Amino acid sequence: MEEFGADFNIVPVNAEELTEELFLSFNNLVLGVPTWFDGELPNYWDEFVPAIEDLNLKGKTIAIFGLGNQVEYPENFGDAVGIMADLVQQRGAKLVGSTSTQGYTYESSRAALNGKFVGLLLDAETQPRLSKDRIINWVAELKTQFS
Ligand SMILES: Cc1cc2nc3c(=O)[nH]c(=O)nc-3n(C[C@H](O)[C@H](O)[C@H](O)COP(=O)(O)O)c2cc1C
Repeated sequence: MEEFGADFNIVPVNAEELTEELFLSFNNLVLGVPTWFDGELPNYWDEFVPAIEDLNLKGKTIAIFGLGNQVEYPENFGDAVGIMADLVQQRGAKLVGSTSTQGYTYESSRAALNGKFVGLLLDAETQPRLSKDRIINWVAELKTQFS
């Protein structure tokens, strides 16, 4: 969060406390979506999916990051990032913050599309030392996309 610096007014929101009104009150959103249950959203996001399916997200710019584990779950690495990306794009949001798949080793991922991840994948369990630079580079890119 501090990587955004003082130019951006960041409001941290716990995903477990989201409401439709709160979600819609922001034009730029960064969603943190770890992958659970062999390629699924965690419960707190899953419970909010029906609400998102009813929202009009036209005009919203959304970036998604998520924790995953490419060694333990190589067939579903970071799938939840891809699931959420599909969902918000279907509702009209502009998705930003795609990243290179280089440097990761996995078999398949719903977050990968045309050789890129649709968001930022972090693997705190098998690549903990790579996260900091990945975040710094990603936020630098988001700063050029958010208004
Ligand atoms: C039951 C369970 C299932 C998981 N399934 C996946 C998976 O399908 N794909 C993946 O990339 N990571 C998977 N993970 C790894 C988690 O994403 C990883 O542990 C992450 O750091 C959890 O972040 P959190 O504690 O913030 O939710 C799984 C972890 C657990 C405990």
